Amino acid sequence: MRIDIITLFPEFFEGFKDHSIIGRAVKNGKIEIFVHNLRAQAKDSYGSVDDHPYGGGPGMVLRFDVLLDTLNIVKAQSSEHSPKSSPTCAGRQGSELKKPKVILMTPQGQVFKQKVALELAKEQNLILICGHYEGFDERIRDYVDQEISIGDYVLTGGELAAMVITDSVVRLLPGVLGDDMSSHDESHSPSASSGQVLLEYPQYTRPTEYEGKKVPEILLGGNHKEIDKWRHEQAIERTKSRRPDLLKQ
Ligand code: 6GU
Repeated sequence: MRIDIITLFPEFFEGFKDHSIIGRAVKNGKIEIFVHNLRAQAKDSYGSVDDHPYGGGPGMVLRFDVLLDTLNIVKAQSSEHSPKSSPTCAGRQGSELKKPKVILMTPQGQVFKQKVALELAKEQNLILICGHYEGFDERIRDYVDQEISIGDYVLTGGELAAMVITDSVVRLLPGVLGDDMSSHDESHSPSASSGQVLLEYPQYTRPTEYEGKKVPEILLGGNHKEIDKWRHEQAIERTKSRRPDLLKQ
């Protein structure tokens, strides 16, 4: 998968791209991340990318021409990109190139859930547009495929949201997590058998007892059928007590 991020603050993404699981996925060629500075398409020598809103009001609005020119350049780069140059990139089938999916980060978008992450993980190329200041010129909305919010609160910009989306999508790609099964049985993922969304069951590791706190006996017995049953019951119990809203969906 190739992910292009359009932002006024490319430096926000430096640590994010280079470390931990995302950094390893980049190094292993599972994903490519390109960060593009909106300022490169500024229309004057001051590098201004925003302006006062028509009709008055507080704050500044990102200019439509700057946004659209950047998006078109990134789209062209993204589709020029030959699948042969990265044979291990997940999501590529033969030489067929899917169109990049363009996503606008905005608190007015569809609320991001694991289900959305699973859908996006099927894409070949994502283009994430981060806004800043008060917002963007409305006209850019006609050029995006999807608008996403990461929750009902307001951030100063879309950068953190773009990182949240990138992280949750990339970890779902084949070969990115050490053990391919480790993204299956987790919280918020629909269960393979029932499609139900539950929080994850409790996990334990050594020691079996510490400070008087013991690991549940059933996990030590090695009866996998019983263990699976216990875990499922625990997941339901946990979801009921912490997130009953998930059971109603
Ligand atoms: Cl995607 N952007 C901003 N600015 N604020 C948000 C958001 C996005 N999602 C939740 N709050």
